[in-house]
Amino acid sequence: MSGISKSFGIVSVLKDANLKVREGEIHALLGENGAGKSTLIKILSGVHQKDAGKVILDGKEINPKNTHDGQLLGINVVYQELSLVNDLSVAENIYLHKLGASTFWVNWKELYKDAQSLLDSLGFEINAKAKIRELSIVQKQVVEIAKAISENPKVLVLDEPTTVFDPKEKEKLFENILELKKKGVSIIYISHHLDEVFKIADTITVLRDGVDTGTRPVSDTDTDDVIQLMIGRELDDLFPKRNVTLGSVPILEVNKLSGRDTHVHDVSFSVKPGEVVGIAGLGGSGRTETAKLIFGADRKKSGSIKLYGEEVDITSPSDAVRHQVGLVSENRKEEGIYLPLSIRQNISITKLKAIANKFGFIDSNKEIKKAESLIGKLNIKTLSSETPAKNLSGGNQQKVALAKWFSIGSNLIIIDEPTRGVDVGAKVEIYHLINEAAAQGVGVIVISSDMPEIMGIADRILVMHEGTIYGELAKEDFSEENILRYAIGEPLKN
Ligand SMILES: Nc1ncnc2c1ncn2[C@@H]1O[C@H](COP(=O)(O)OP(=O)(O)OP(=O)(O)O)[C@@H](O)[C@H]1O
Ligand SMILES: [Mg+2]
Repeated sequence: MSGISKSFGIVSVLKDANLKVREGEIHALLGENGAGKSTLIKILSGVHQKDAGKVILDGKEINPKNTHDGQLLGINVVYQELSLVNDLSVAENIYLHKLGASTFWVNWKELYKDAQSLLDSLGFEINAKAKIRELSIVQKQVVEIAKAISENPKVLVLDEPTTVFDPKEKEKLFENILELKKKGVSIIYISHHLDEVFKIADTITVLRDGVDTGTRPVSDTDTDDVIQLMIGRELDDLFPKRNVTLGSVPILEVNKLSGRDTHVHDVSFSVKPGEVVGIAGLGGSGRTETAKLIFGADRKKSGSIKLYGEEVDITSPSDAVRHQVGLVSENRKEEGIYLPLSIRQNISITKLKAIANKFGFIDSNKEIKKAESLIGKLNIKTLSSETPAKNLSGGNQQKVALAKWFSIGSNLIIIDEPTRGVDVGAKVEIYHLINEAAAQGVGVIVISSDMPEIMGIADRILVMHEGTIYGELAKEDFSEENILRYAIGEPLKN
């Protein structure tokens, strides 16, 4: 791709951008949120049409007018946003494009068999006959990947494929990617996890504000160099230090909490004002379910929850909001953000509900000011607070989902995967925001699969295994190995 330019209205997103990918290469495409990575890919695949520049595949200029064109040329993309049809089966989703209108002639038995063997070969347990809506978010992501691979692409693009994966699931994906590389598939890999990139990529290209700022072989660069290319400066401390005195009365005390519809059982812990408590664990260990129990989004079977020493009965998210408890859901694509609404409306939506209950009116001037200050603080890339959330880049949408809970003044904030899809610079902003909240006496629970992150921001870490807290790590015992040992249900080595 050479000299690619693209504007949306008055917003110029790509300006003379270049990307050269060789056969059988794993090429990482990096850059801050809003740098133009997804847009460049969407031009390659036919979702968007470029304003200027050339796309050349195997020596021939191509101009895909839509994704179908792109697929015929051998370009397949796993997009940042999910694209599956909920009411169809896994197999139907994978082969949707091939089915077309003539489902009458489909050999269903064959179809299910093919889909199942493809899924099995990827190493994830998914039933090809299951309906998409029955799947976990991890399984949905695997189906997206299977769907792209099923087309035998020449060029496979993965736009942040691992955001919902735990470390083991990531390993499996990497094995699959290396397999494809061996077959000569060219892979464009977009990620904000530099550790992953250094593990599997051969080459790195960085975009900044719609321009490529450098292409380097992985062997010839390092994290500092890449960050410099991404943000044009060196990053100060990734995990800012925090000095707080913890309050004495816990904000939250959870005692023997068990879920009615989940495997979460006998969970006990507390959070003090000013404390940041991390919850680690593998996918399916019950971290998100525990958060949902506390937030009233799942029903509890037994156990108690105390806020400031008093037992409370939280049976719905609106109860939780009334008690000034906030939850930033991991599944922001589906639960956290209302795409058609403006950034301002999204940031104030929970507040709106909370305030409307008490006073019945909203002060819109204040609302705009608040939204603008959070947009500034989190460096959300937009021309105005009135822009619809759907026009933001993936990472900037995440930031909006977070901003919402910080704007309402919660006493306890539970954040499930705080920096999924967020660039390195913005991560630091989010950590600052968490620290700032803690310094004001807010209790924060951070659930994260990102090990450096959870060790960097938590005061102590609870590690879950099979639905309950298996072990707790004090700051001096933080290490990836210790977290993993507890996560798989084993004692620490001395
Ligand atoms: N359909 C659209 N209409 C208007 N603006 C858009 C549209 N799509 C993208 N943009 C803008 O283009 C810019 C680049 O977005 P893009 O999605 O390519 O970023 P990205 O590099 O993929 O970021 P992220 O890491 O957050 O996913 C952003 O500022 C975004 O708001
Ligand atoms: Mg993107």
